[in-house]
Amino acid sequence: MKRILITGAGGGIGRALRAGLHGRYPLLRLLDVTPQEAARAGEELLSADITGLGAMRAALEDVDCVVHLAGVPRENTWEAILPNNIVGTYNVFEAARLQRVKRVIFASSNHAVGYHRASRKIDTDVLPRPDSRYGVSKVFGEALGRMYADKYGLNVACLRIGSFREKPQDARQLSTWISPRDTVQLVRRCIDAPAYHYLIVYGVSANTRSRWINPNADFLGYQPQDNAEDFAAVLVGKTAPAGDPATEFHGGPFCAMEFTGDISKID
Ligand SMILES: NC(=O)c1ccc[n+]([C@@H]2O[C@H](COP(=O)([O-])OP(=O)(O)OC[C@H]3O[C@@H](n4cnc5c(N)ncnc54)[C@H](O)[C@@H]3O)[C@@H](O)[C@H]2O)c1
Repeated sequence: MKRILITGAGGGIGRALRAGLHGRYPLLRLLDVTPQEAARAGEELLSADITGLGAMRAALEDVDCVVHLAGVPRENTWEAILPNNIVGTYNVFEAARLQRVKRVIFASSNHAVGYHRASRKIDTDVLPRPDSRYGVSKVFGEALGRMYADKYGLNVACLRIGSFREKPQDARQLSTWISPRDTVQLVRRCIDAPAYHYLIVYGVSANTRSRWINPNADFLGYQPQDNAEDFAAVLVGKTAPAGDPATEFHGGPFCAMEFTGDISKID
């Protein structure tokens, strides 16, 4: 994998990857709709919108591997999610097929499986259980990736990212946090792995309290360096009360947003 395109390169995760991957591959093509810092050696800047298939087809020319981050990164209206996360993600996979790109690494989210009970650890085989329109868009991306792997032979890795932050911010993130340097390592492993067909991996640091079983981390050789437990003393107790949807389910606060359901019916 020599020529790497990052969509959403101007965002929080994109900037961490830009810094961490610099000099490791002959080309990093950095795509975003927002202005980015000037290109250095080995970088190309591209101002483009993933909602246009033609623009994405042009963007992916001569690319070996796409790291697809662009989109709405949290819950939002359907009018925002549909073009950016659904249509945009389709355009990325379809452009990858048309341009014979070998590999797509898709920034999925733990919110694809948010309504699983927090009392149970979950692995990468659990059924989708999105906790938001945003989570549904990540389930869509994972399903699309599965189809492009099976039907067209693309290598696809879906990263169910937990909480990407400099430091964990609350008690839930003691389980879900991923540090910038671990994020860089995980994406590098996905770019550098000699071969895979389709895999799902949780994007999480080596947190003592992680509730995610992550066999593909071992397959990829991902060995996270950071552990949110180092921040536990100041964060324990920063949590919603027991019985609140935000504490009962893996997706935390996303499960509580707009909630008018019956917790006892969610097994
Ligand atoms: N940050 C986290 O904790 C976290 C957790 C789970 C998943 N993710 C996923 O990781 C990805 C990156 O997240 P982030 O935190 O860096 O978000 P971010 O908002 O900081 O970055 C997203 C970038 O995508 C760009 N973008 C949005 N729509 C676009 C479009 N139509 N065309 C081109 N560029 C567009 C934005 O300008 C922005 O720079 C997202 O897909 C998000 O859902 C993030």
